Amino acid sequence: MPSEENLVTVIFSMNLVDHIDRSKLPRHLAVIMDGNGRWAKKQGFFRSFGHENGTEAVHEVVEACAELPIPFLTLYAFSTENWNRPKSEVKTLMKLLVSSLKKEINTLQKNKIRLNAIGNLEALPKKAYQELMDVMEQTKSNPHMTLTLALSYGAREEITKTIKEISVKVKNNLISPSDIDESVINNHLYTRDLPDVDLLIRTSGEQRISNFLLWQIAYAELYFTDTLWPDYRKDHLFEAILDYQNRERRFGKTSEQLNP
Ligand code: FPP
Repeated sequence: MPSEENLVTVIFSMNLVDHIDRSKLPRHLAVIMDGNGRWAKKQGFFRSFGHENGTEAVHEVVEACAELPIPFLTLYAFSTENWNRPKSEVKTLMKLLVSSLKKEINTLQKNKIRLNAIGNLEALPKKAYQELMDVMEQTKSNPHMTLTLALSYGAREEITKTIKEISVKVKNNLISPSDIDESVINNHLYTRDLPDVDLLIRTSGEQRISNFLLWQIAYAELYFTDTLWPDYRKDHLFEAILDYQNRERRFGKTSEQLNP
């Protein structure tokens, strides 16, 4: 028998999710999971404790996306700039990556979720890289949803790499400069098999993009919330989606053109 408090939470959660229009879900949701350090410090703990608790929020959001469903979810788990954090924190984050992959493989298989990763993955410690490749291989045929982890990821690095690759092709006469268009650029990004981002959420009250998916968020709706990442739960996500569904996405057109 659930406690009265749990029952109220369940009913509230059902109500919120029931308001979501399943025909207007974002196809690609991207999340900047911020506030782990502040969450831990507020309680007098080390920053790593916040990262550990952040994994529960990851689990909730992945499950919620699978339930809705949102077919593409991309999480900013570790940026190129995060390598500059204290060694011990980087070590904890890499350890957490390995332990979370081991723990969550069942969730991925149960929900038929394919794991994908973007970023300079070769920079990851061997153990993390191996585990990642292993889970990606095991889940590669899962059709329901694609969960992409941005690891050692930076949008400027991604765009620089793309320009280098296209330049080499031009130099070798494999492509002519006049043929370079948006689709050529898209096809050289880490995200080549993902659609553009529809909704970008950042937690913790910060209102920045922090070098995340700069090309891919050209027409994304941005949603900022004060909730710190370790506190983020399914209802927070449902609130963000309801907000998204109340927006008019005009893609440069006028409101009258969209609603003649
Ligand atoms: C930002 O919070 C968060 C990160 C740099 C790492 C995100 C990692 C997790 C949520 C846990 C592991 C995730 C996976 C996918 C295994 P912050 O440390 O910058 O917080 P602060 O702004 O309060 O300092």
